[in-house]
Amino acid sequence: MAKADITEKVVSLAKRKGFVFQSSEIYGGLNGCWDYGPLGVEMLNNIKQAWWKEMTYREDIEGLDASILMHPRVWEASGHVENFTDPMVDCKECKGRFRADQLEDIDCGNKGYKGRKAIKCQQEGNFTEARNFNLMFKTFVGPVEDSSNVVFLRPETAQGIYVNFLNVKDSSRQKLPFGIAQIGKAFRNEINTKNFLFRTREFEQMEMQFFINPKDDEKWFEYWREQRVNWFIKYGLKKDKLKIYAHEKLAHYAKTAVDIEYEFPFGWGELEGIHNRTDFDLKRHTEFSGKKLEYYDDQTKERFTPFVIETSAGASRSFMAFLIDAYDEEEVFKENSDGTKSSEIRTVLRLNPSLAPVKATVFPLVNRDGMQDIAHGITEDLRKYFRVFYDESGAVGRRYRRQDECGTPFCVTVDSETLENGSVTIRERDTMAQVRVNKDNIQGYLVPRVNT
Ligand code: GAP
Repeated sequence: MAKADITEKVVSLAKRKGFVFQSSEIYGGLNGCWDYGPLGVEMLNNIKQAWWKEMTYREDIEGLDASILMHPRVWEASGHVENFTDPMVDCKECKGRFRADQLEDIDCGNKGYKGRKAIKCQQEGNFTEARNFNLMFKTFVGPVEDSSNVVFLRPETAQGIYVNFLNVKDSSRQKLPFGIAQIGKAFRNEINTKNFLFRTREFEQMEMQFFINPKDDEKWFEYWREQRVNWFIKYGLKKDKLKIYAHEKLAHYAKTAVDIEYEFPFGWGELEGIHNRTDFDLKRHTEFSGKKLEYYDDQTKERFTPFVIETSAGASRSFMAFLIDAYDEEEVFKENSDGTKSSEIRTVLRLNPSLAPVKATVFPLVNRDGMQDIAHGITEDLRKYFRVFYDESGAVGRRYRRQDECGTPFCVTVDSETLENGSVTIRERDTMAQVRVNKDNIQGYLVPRVNT
């Protein structure tokens, strides 16, 4: 399958099956914004839950959910008002507007210039001088729209964590080293959005800030780098599609920075950044707020500003990577009723069962002899443990295919043997292997297999 095709196929499947829709589609869409449909919201929640469990179900990390709107001084202290900019250029010929540092791949795209690359506009000398454009969305608190009421939609969740450092430390009685984790929306007025969910204007981040004694920074940086790569592998991304990219040019706050990159069909792209942010953020907030964001170690009797190792992943970008990585097409053979064989292409999402939106679907083989009632009963029982779906329409083969496309790891079929001895067929998505399990043991069989 050609690489470019995969994105197209995944985008089309995502819409057809209810994973992702264009935002405000009936009005023509809003660039850089997407809606998660019935299956998408389940899968996104599963990704966030998997991250949340990994990061906060441990002694040394606390959770937080800070508000999106924050005091405007936060963004002055963080450096975002001054530095969170991209260089923007306009093309005098095609009227396109581009990020000056990312032209290679961008289509000019404007009417009459289809297929032409922005880099060509540049080569032909049609660009205006680059000017810096701040990516933060601005709005106002209260009814008066003047400069004293300006607030920003947060461009990262991290700052909500730094400003709560003392609140969390004191209320949870944590001692260094410890972390604060948060999942939430972030907004960036990107000049060019592209590649489906990869670069959007509204997205979700899963960030964790780990506060440490500065002398331990290298040790913790290595620790978190390894943990985070392993998390993506644990939840299904292929190891050979992941790599670490070490930054040479560092952001103003960072001492060391690496990205975990995934090989998307359009090329390598960042999924998560691991940064040694030093004491930059806590010191800046100390300076701007007048509150000392420090730590007193009662064993060594030292007082210092902790360093921070940050792990910053995109939930939406991870969603896209998990979806693309799971997408597969394979030729499968079947025996026809006249004894001949034929083949068809099976589309299957090989999602890790914990991330799959629906864990099991229950079918009555035929809609008679009480099979529907038994299948409904099994559905209700399983629903107490995980998300389950009931389907009685069409041939069983077609029902399997529909679930394969949604990534449902197991299908449970009630058939004539169920009426005789109480057993059902459980079919596994990836191998298509079938086992018979007594209907009283279905939950015991499935629960450990869907919560990996
Ligand atoms: N607090 C550090 C920080 O925000 P970042 O590298 O700018 O660092 C972290 O963003 C992660 O957030 C990225 O690795 C990516 O997964 C996600 N992300 C950033 N901008 C995004 C966008 N416009 N659309 C979707 N995800 C984005």
